[in-house]
This record gives sequence, C-alpha cells and structure tokens, in this order.
Amino acid sequence: MAAPRTIIVTGASRGIGHATALRFHREGWRVITVSRHSPPGECPWSEGRSHILLDLSNLDDIVHCVEIMRGMLVDGELHALVNNAGISPKGPDGSRLNSLETDIDTWQSMYNTNFYAPLLLTRGFVAELSRARGAVVNLTSIAGSRVHRFAGSAYATSKAALAALTREMAYDLAAVDVRVNAIAPGEIDTTILSPGTPEIVERDIPMRRLGTIEEVADLIWFLCSHQATYITGAEIPINGGQHA
Ligand SMILES: NC(=O)c1ccc[n+]([C@@H]2O[C@H](COP(=O)([O-])OP(=O)(O)OC[C@H]3O[C@@H](n4cnc5c(N)ncnc54)[C@H](OP(=O)(O)O)[C@@H]3O)[C@@H](O)[C@H]2O)c1
Repeated sequence: MAAPRTIIVTGASRGIGHATALRFHREGWRVITVSRHSPPGECPWSEGRSHILLDLSNLDDIVHCVEIMRGMLVDGELHALVNNAGISPKGPDGSRLNSLETDIDTWQSMYNTNFYAPLLLTRGFVAELSRARGAVVNLTSIAGSRVHRFAGSAYATSKAALAALTREMAYDLAAVDVRVNAIAPGEIDTTILSPGTPEIVERDIPMRRLGTIEEVADLIWFLCSHQATYITGAEIPINGGQHA
C-alpha cells in the first residue's frame, strides 16, 4: 500500500485552515498544522507531534520550526503546503486601518505573518516538495486587488505582495516540479470578518451570501490534486461574483 501523502497547513486552529486540515484528513492524508493556539481537542491531529505551536510573526522561530517539521515527514516528502495563516487587524468597531495612521509595528508584524512566513516556509521545503512533485497554495485576498471597506492598507498590500510572490515562486519552482498557486477569497464566514460585512453581502455580492470555509477547502483540495497538474502561478478568486 502506498504511504499516505502529507500536508502542512498553517493557521488551522480555526476558520479556513481548520476546514482544510479536516478535508485532507478525511481523504486519508497525514496532516501537520501550525498556529499559536491548538486546534480544537477533538481534531485527530491535535495531539502528539502533528501540531506545532508557533507565532509565525517571529521569523527566527520559523526557520527552527522548518527543521522540526522536516523530521516529521515520511521519506522526506511533502505533498502540499498551504500558507493559510493570516491576520487582518481592524480599527475600533472593525473599521479599516488606513495607510497613514497604521503604526509601523503593525505593518511589520502583519507582513511577517502574511508574507514572509509563506516565503520562508516555501523556501524551507523546496527539496521535500520537489521529491513529492507537491503543490503550494497561498491564501491571498480580494483586498489585494482593490480598496476594501474594512481590510486595512497593511493587510491589503501584504496580500498583493503574496499574489506577486505566488507568480514568482511558480516560475522559480516549475523546474523542480512544484506548483505554486493562490486563492483570493472574498467574504468567507469566519471570525476575520468585520461587523459591517452584512452590508457588503447585500450590496456587493451577486450571490447574496457569504462563502463557507468548506467551499474554500474544496478549492484548496482541487489545487493540490492530480486534476490540477497543469495549473501553476494562478490566483483563483472565490467570492460569489464580487468583482465590481
Ligand atoms: N474569511 C475571509 O473572508 C477571508 C477573505 C480573504 C482572505 N482570507 C485569508 O484566508 C486566510 C484564513 O483566514 P480565516 O478567515 O480562516 O481567518 P481566521 O478564522 O481568523 O483564522 C486565521 C488563522 O491564522 C492563524 N494565525 C494568525 N496569526 C498567526 C500567527 N502570527 N502565527 C500563527 N498562526 C497565526 C490563526 O491561529 P492562531 O490564532 O491560533 O495563531 C488561525 O488559525 C487568511 O490568510 C486570510 O487573510 C480570508
């Protein structure tokens, strides 16, 4: 029998990352997760050595963590890396943090989590991904390509940078058989949303509803599957038609 495939998902303690880890677990994959809090206790990978407690805004710790996770892989193979962890700090009452007033520490910490962590993790696992002809999926955002009513400037620019990094790394890693894609969600029903989101749903989303975490997990599953072997360097929107 073939050995199970292995996925690393960052930010799987809740939301999209958690749904993604569950989806791959159900499909028989080995799941390794990374976030500052543990996933809910009932999660099959929450105990033992399959969850790493780590603050991805601390870049020095990431390098160390890559070494630990490398030791957890079977035959030195990693089949999928999902750079999902992200933060989107808001102002009072969920308001947008603009480019003039957001303090520089917030810019830096957000860039570390949203941009440099995906860069360091992907670079750290190139050999293991290559051995498995694996796939990387980065979670960008609708805010990376337009001004968003609630997502702040630091968040939006970090996601735009991550979209560009996706193209760059897809180009650089094609030669070693690793695909790199991004998913740009619109409004997905998680705790990251602002209190004013219902107005966006009513006004800006043609499908008139939020997306679900399972719908995003399905797209991540597809991009990591054998059905997507000629897709790389793409950024796929998942937003209920929120393009205007
Ligand atoms: N939901 C949406 O509408 C939407 C729209 C566009 C883009 N996205 C993107 O999709 C991704 C997932 O978002 P979500 O909606 O599922 O958010 P969420 O429910 O807030 O979950 C975010 C996850 O990231 C982890 N995380 C945050 N900061 C971290 C850090 N410094 N170190 C390690 N882990 C960290 C959190 O875990 P801990 O708190 O335990 O560390 C959590 O598991 C994010 O990249 C987000 O920007 C979401």
